[in-house]
Amino acid sequence: MDTTIALVTGAAQGIGRETVRRLAELGWTVWLGARDVEAGEKVAAAIAAEITSTDIRVVQLDVTDDDSVAAAVRTVEAAHGRLDALVNNAGIAGGWVSPRDATPADFLAVYGVNVLGPVRTTHAFLPLLDRSGQPRVVMVSSGLGSFGITTDPARFESTLHNITYPSSKSALNMVASQYAKALDGYQVLIVDPGYTSTAFNGYNGTQTVEQGAEAVVQAATSAPDAPTGTYRDAAGPLPW
Ligand SMILES: NC(=O)c1ccc[n+]([C@@H]2O[C@H](COP(=O)([O-])OP(=O)(O)OC[C@H]3O[C@@H](n4cnc5c(N)ncnc54)[C@H](OP(=O)(O)O)[C@@H]3O)[C@@H](O)[C@H]2O)c1
Repeated sequence: MDTTIALVTGAAQGIGRETVRRLAELGWTVWLGARDVEAGEKVAAAIAAEITSTDIRVVQLDVTDDDSVAAAVRTVEAAHGRLDALVNNAGIAGGWVSPRDATPADFLAVYGVNVLGPVRTTHAFLPLLDRSGQPRVVMVSSGLGSFGITTDPARFESTLHNITYPSSKSALNMVASQYAKALDGYQVLIVDPGYTSTAFNGYNGTQTVEQGAEAVVQAATSAPDAPTGTYRDAAGPLPW
């Protein structure tokens, strides 16, 4: 059987890098998407030194840039003619913006990367995913995008008042849910990595990247009969 072909966006560091390592370890061919291709090459070489069997390839990919995404599609198409698993991992925190202070301009960058980035990338790769026997799209969301979690007084997340990043991930959840309903034969899977120590949060997260990548890898490696449109962390289903 052909190897599984995956692409992970924002994979030069953090949860994306660890996801590339885990999927490559399975013997998959993994495209490491990086804004800075030289940085991506260094990371790919470092991962290759950590594990035995690896087919990691680097592709320049900025999820805010139509030309960059289109070029990445052409590169993957030329190599394999299809894509089996797209992991929309790239994301930014976008700073801390309290609801009282927020103006529309505060939303632009974070929505551009966290919402429009996965839409741009997913839309562009659909023709290649259509040619897969088991097309999977993983959306790396956050528990902060959950209404259930952020309105539960028992949860720490309910005490945080940031209007931009959490709402971007709520929007991503709905975007993903709509894809899941519309894309026949696809698995569109929404995941929360959990609070993970990466540059994203100044390395304050309480989980390791190994723990953070677990939910992402679980989704990317879902069984063919696993349901689409689910929202989960590594421990199980999450409230929307
Ligand atoms: N860490 C957490 O606690 C946590 C919790 C819940 C959800 N998440 C989500 O997990 C995902 C990964 O975050 P992380 O913690 O691993 O953060 P990270 O270490 O900061 O990694 C984020 C990655 O996204 C990339 N990126 C940013 N803007 C991009 C763009 N325009 N195009 C392509 N790539 C871009 C960055 O590229 P460069 O390397 O070039 O900077 C970086 O590789 C994000 O979607 C985040 O929202 C994280």
